[in-house]
Amino acid sequence: MSQFNYIKDIAKFGLDNDQEKLLTALNELIEHSKQTKKINFALQLQSILKESLRQNKASNLVKAGSESHFNRIEDREYNDLILEKLTSDYRFKNLVTSEETKRELELFVKEHHAVDILRKYNLPIANKILFHGPSGCGKTLASYVIAGELNKIMVVVNLGSIVSSKLGETSKNLAKIFRKASSEDCIIFIDEFDSLGKVRDYSQDHGEMKRVVNTILQLFDYLPQSSIVIAATNQKDMLDSALMRRFDVNIKFDLPNEAQIAELIELTLRNGKIKLPAKSSLKSIIKAALGLSYYSIQRTLITAIKRSIFANIENKSITTPTVDMKVWKLLLEAEKKAL
Ligand SMILES: Nc1ncnc2c1ncn2[C@@H]1O[C@H](COP(=O)(O)OP(=O)(O)OP(=O)(O)O)[C@@H](O)[C@H]1O
Ligand SMILES: [Mg+2]
Repeated sequence: MSQFNYIKDIAKFGLDNDQEKLLTALNELIEHSKQTKKINFALQLQSILKESLRQNKASNLVKAGSESHFNRIEDREYNDLILEKLTSDYRFKNLVTSEETKRELELFVKEHHAVDILRKYNLPIANKILFHGPSGCGKTLASYVIAGELNKIMVVVNLGSIVSSKLGETSKNLAKIFRKASSEDCIIFIDEFDSLGKVRDYSQDHGEMKRVVNTILQLFDYLPQSSIVIAATNQKDMLDSALMRRFDVNIKFDLPNEAQIAELIELTLRNGKIKLPAKSSLKSIIKAALGLSYYSIQRTLITAIKRSIFANIENKSITTPTVDMKVWKLLLEAEKKAL
């Protein structure tokens, strides 16, 4: 059966409110997608299905104080603590880094592909990874790449709502997330990891910070080997040194050098519908971009591309638009001034 037939069935059963047949058709489509290697789509569908089943279960009347009552409260609390749950199509080809960083990331992914072999030799699997470095250099992107390469669901943790002014609450929230997420065998992504340091400011009690750090240390120590934690920060110095030591891998994301800027430009223009002018102007633009983040360089390039397309339309030109390097250079200079 083709994917369209499944979709037709799903539409029909959905509109008929035939829950049972709808679930069967959805499960068949998930199976079909797995077999036709649309793994990401299958995972997303599976996650939607699971979530909906869970909520349906929770929306039935339950007796206060019963076990399901507590489960329901816990689920709601857990959902407040996470920012989003996602799957990813990003791959290594979407990320520009130094050779060394790429090697480290590839090794990490390889290790998780080879979990069974490593287990056979009773070897521990690296599953706690710290990304650090300046803003806009690919920390969040690299976490998407890992989720994409490993076909795992990623839970993005809302650190803002975890760090609480109430005494003892931050530790409890952290434990809640880890318990739930590790039972789902996914990647826990904690962005702005350094904001845990805020506990120090929130709390009058100096013991609170220590407690939070100890909780994280414990949660890390008991993390199942199949779960992964990725933490990202651009203020590594704010982190407690005991905490730093617990990460199995520690990867720095730096501002791009000339070769990496060239690679980023190529990546951004990959679809080939827009051209760059002659090579000579490329060299000088790369020099102008040095010192800026990947994000700023890419964003200014995209702005320059849009303006070049508009100019092309206004001039009624039929040739392929070419990036106006003067416009781009001005944008880059403005960006540098704003640093
Ligand atoms: N190394 C890179 N290779 C390719 N594109 C990149 C890279 N770094 C950043 N970008 C581009 O910039 C965007 C923003 O980068 P990202 O969110 O990964 O930065 P970050 O390091 O997490 O920054 P922050 O510390 O502010 O969270 C990416 O979605 C991507 O389009
Ligand atoms: Mg980020």
